[in-house]
Amino acid sequence: MPFNKKKEAPKAAPAPAPKKVEKAVDGEEKEKKGGAKAPPELLRGFRDILPEEQGKWNFVRDSVRNLAEAYSFDRIDLPILERADLFQRTVGKQTDIIEKEMYAFVDPSDRMVALRPEATASCARAYINHGMLDRPQPVKLWYEGAMFRHDRPQAGRYRQFYQAGFEVFGTHEPIMDAQLIVLGYQIFKDLGLNVKVQVNSIGTPESRQAYLAELTSYFRPHRNKLSEDDKRRLQKSPLRLLDSKEEGMKELLAEAPQILDWLDDASKEHFTKVLEFLEEIQVPYVLNPHLVRGLEYYTHTVFEFVLDNDEPERAQNALGGGGRYNGLVELIGGRPTPACGFAIGMDRVAKALGEMGINPPQRPDPQVFFAQLGDAARRVGLKLYEDFRMAQIPVAEAFGKNALKAQLEAANKLAVQYTIILGQKEVLDGTIIIRDMESGAQEIVDINKIVAVVKKKLSSEKEARVVVHQSPVARE
Ligand code: HAM
Repeated sequence: MPFNKKKEAPKAAPAPAPKKVEKAVDGEEKEKKGGAKAPPELLRGFRDILPEEQGKWNFVRDSVRNLAEAYSFDRIDLPILERADLFQRTVGKQTDIIEKEMYAFVDPSDRMVALRPEATASCARAYINHGMLDRPQPVKLWYEGAMFRHDRPQAGRYRQFYQAGFEVFGTHEPIMDAQLIVLGYQIFKDLGLNVKVQVNSIGTPESRQAYLAELTSYFRPHRNKLSEDDKRRLQKSPLRLLDSKEEGMKELLAEAPQILDWLDDASKEHFTKVLEFLEEIQVPYVLNPHLVRGLEYYTHTVFEFVLDNDEPERAQNALGGGGRYNGLVELIGGRPTPACGFAIGMDRVAKALGEMGINPPQRPDPQVFFAQLGDAARRVGLKLYEDFRMAQIPVAEAFGKNALKAQLEAANKLAVQYTIILGQKEVLDGTIIIRDMESGAQEIVDINKIVAVVKKKLSSEKEARVVVHQSPVARE
């Protein structure tokens, strides 16, 4: 181990204060002046997730929740707004997130606050605030929600995006790192997405110092070949050079010293065990010596999930990532607590599902349509709708339409099996018509029995039906 080469790591310069939002105008956020009729504009990088997209979002949310429960994680909801310094101290002042992407502003109480760019720091804060150290360890928490980063919007990169995250506090054991990777892998598998896991270890901050010095001396003679951004990284956070996406860096990176060679024995042992567990459970992983992650709190294992067979450029858009962060709880004032976790980017996952043509219906398809004629029928219909709902039979309606023809067209579009039709005569008689949409056959049924009749028909399509009434319903 080349520990004798130990040199001072470059000192971190104080980070500039986070930009105020009003100064961060990017040219496209102009307000439309005066034009009362101009349509309201969305902020750049923000978007609506429309009803037609909710099917795949629900699919993601349900898989996340099911697996969180299966792996014994407890749900936590955290505030969207926190003190800005929580993130500055944990995510790290030299990171892109804090340097240029945080939505930080002074609130009316004169406090610097920020829309959370991530939630690991908030989880650690909650762990301390609520004395979770005194609960049986490890404490396993999961969350889901919006995060905010004033990043450059592009495919799969938004300024408001959604993460589902899992955090485990209170265990050093490498099996936990491995189980988190397995959990992430299972989420993607459940969703039908083929991912590969990239893993690396960045050791402890102490063991990293020697490596950072080595890395800096490797890059320094090549300084003039580096982009302005990379020059800045060389000076302020050399580890981030490994993550550089600049074309010219490829060759330099191929020859760069690798962090795994510089890990201390304990870090090496931890990482070897994590990999052994992954092999044991047959989660396919790729060792990526350049994986360092864009947040400063990591120690030991770091990992990312990327779509398998993805083009290299898009593969940079990880579907999720995380790692161990043993120093974070102590950093914000708690007792030393080992911890690890990961988060998946739900927007990117939903997008990947869409590209594969996966968009399940957002709610069960209705099997019955309720058509009504006249106000009296509407009044009875409102109650009837509740009866069907209580019986857990999804019913569609078109209360906004009057003509029977239009309502039957709506029923046809929804491809329901049965339409129940209530006219003024039926209201007076206490009956209702049930129409089989495929055969066109109609029956008149006692309105008090309609829910039971429909239920029976739906559960046994083959059951013989007594057609009591078969005249066309042309009573508009
Ligand atoms: P992160 O890598 O910054 O880690 O974000 C996790 C995931 O969120 C990314 O892999 C990506 O899928 C998604 N994501 C990040 N930024 C954007 C964006 N601008 N637009 C769309 N999706 C995005 C963290 O945030 C850590 N807190 C993860 C963690 C939990 N580490 C330990 N515990």
